[in-house]
Amino acid sequence: MNNDSTPNSDNRALLVTGGKPLAGDVCISGAKNSALPLICASMLADSEVVLTNVPLLQDVYLICEVLTALGAKCEFDGHKLTINPTTISRQDAPYELVRKMRASFLVTGPLLAKFGRADVPLPGGCNIGPRPVDEHLRAFTELGAEIEFKKGVVYARAEALKGAEVYFNISSVGATENLLMAAAMAEGTTTLDHCAEEPEVSDLVNFLTSLGANIRWEGPRRIVVQGTRDLRQTEPYAIIPDRIEAGTYALAAVGTGGSARIANCRPKHITALVEKLREMGVPIDTGDDWLDVPATEKIDATKVRTQPYPGFPTDLQPQMTTVLTRAGGLSVVTETVFEQRFSYVPELVRMGAGLLQQENAIVVDGLKSKLTGAPVEGYDLRGFAALTIAALMAQGESLIAGYNHLVRGYEDFTEKLTGLGAKVKLADRSYKLKNNNHK
Ligand code: EPZ
Repeated sequence: MNNDSTPNSDNRALLVTGGKPLAGDVCISGAKNSALPLICASMLADSEVVLTNVPLLQDVYLICEVLTALGAKCEFDGHKLTINPTTISRQDAPYELVRKMRASFLVTGPLLAKFGRADVPLPGGCNIGPRPVDEHLRAFTELGAEIEFKKGVVYARAEALKGAEVYFNISSVGATENLLMAAAMAEGTTTLDHCAEEPEVSDLVNFLTSLGANIRWEGPRRIVVQGTRDLRQTEPYAIIPDRIEAGTYALAAVGTGGSARIANCRPKHITALVEKLREMGVPIDTGDDWLDVPATEKIDATKVRTQPYPGFPTDLQPQMTTVLTRAGGLSVVTETVFEQRFSYVPELVRMGAGLLQQENAIVVDGLKSKLTGAPVEGYDLRGFAALTIAALMAQGESLIAGYNHLVRGYEDFTEKLTGLGAKVKLADRSYKLKNNNHK
């Protein structure tokens, strides 16, 4: 999410010629939302850390810039990232970097645990609602940290973190991850109750365990951690595939009435989507690391409610809403995780979608929707992805401004879409669409 409230100064846009069913193969990259916490967690190690299957994304480069500013060394060799955390000399994350990405707040847990201090500017609100960190801070104090908050910066101090019983009031991915990294080095036992259990949280648990941390899942939403000060890597760690990227391409195929073979993914990480698509009449086939979307003429309307994992992921809500514009009837999509994740809705309406928003729910009238190409704008990462699917479904040309959001979370986006038969290319946002009567 672009935390930048200034108008978008980036002129890159995506030019899409729609109306053709997708068909082909796509290979999924490493998970952005796993790479970010794992790169932060590497600061806990007393050794070099090698991560493989790292997605080459704007947000990944940004978190590496934060670590570099703290004194660590980060080196890419293709999709392999080598981090040397032993040269970290500072624990104050620079505002001009942190303000660009909320996930930078994930440096707080490791810095506090390893060095006893962390000065981290609070990320601003962003395009999907205010993003508080109150659960992170409350839980850090449970482990004995002193938290001060001055002029937009969180100053966290702890002589030595002490294990404690922590209960999260809400299911928060970031808070669970921050506290896992803090507890990994705290003295004694920490219990994290009512945790988020997204696959990216499990990937962090597995990564920390591979460094020598003592962590175990003790039943649903409950993790027990025995702290240890000695964490080091013995072999490279491969990041899990990106379930949201996989779901996005599956929905692009369904939306265009096309087909796709999605390789190098984990269907069991998006069971909620697979089951929902089957319910809508798309006979999805899956293997351990592949997912097949067959061409499906008609899809049924349905109800979708976003939930913490294993429920339907909020990060696929905009894309699913878009696809439902071709379902035969009325659908309802309810967003329960974020307050305002509908920035794409007015843009979809401009393209001819029949949508009605009522607070955190969207009614989608498939019978009234007929998407035609238009100039539109994406205001956040998943909103941009949804508008791309709409443009692929629509008759004619669309120009989607705000491409800078897209490059944060989708590696080789235009190449992968082209591999699925899409007609897409980068253009300037001033490009004038052909025979476009949209003003
Ligand atoms: C992670 O964000 C993901 N980002 C998000 O993906 C994802 O949408 C989200 O989890 C939910 O699955 C990364 O992993 C980098 P949360 P995070 O803490 O950790 C509220 C994408 O598109 N909350 O689980 O920031 C919060 O406001 C991004 O890839 C508090 O109230 O999400 C939200 O309403 C978007 N207090 C809800 O909880 C807190 O202290 C869930 O947030 C923390 C969170």
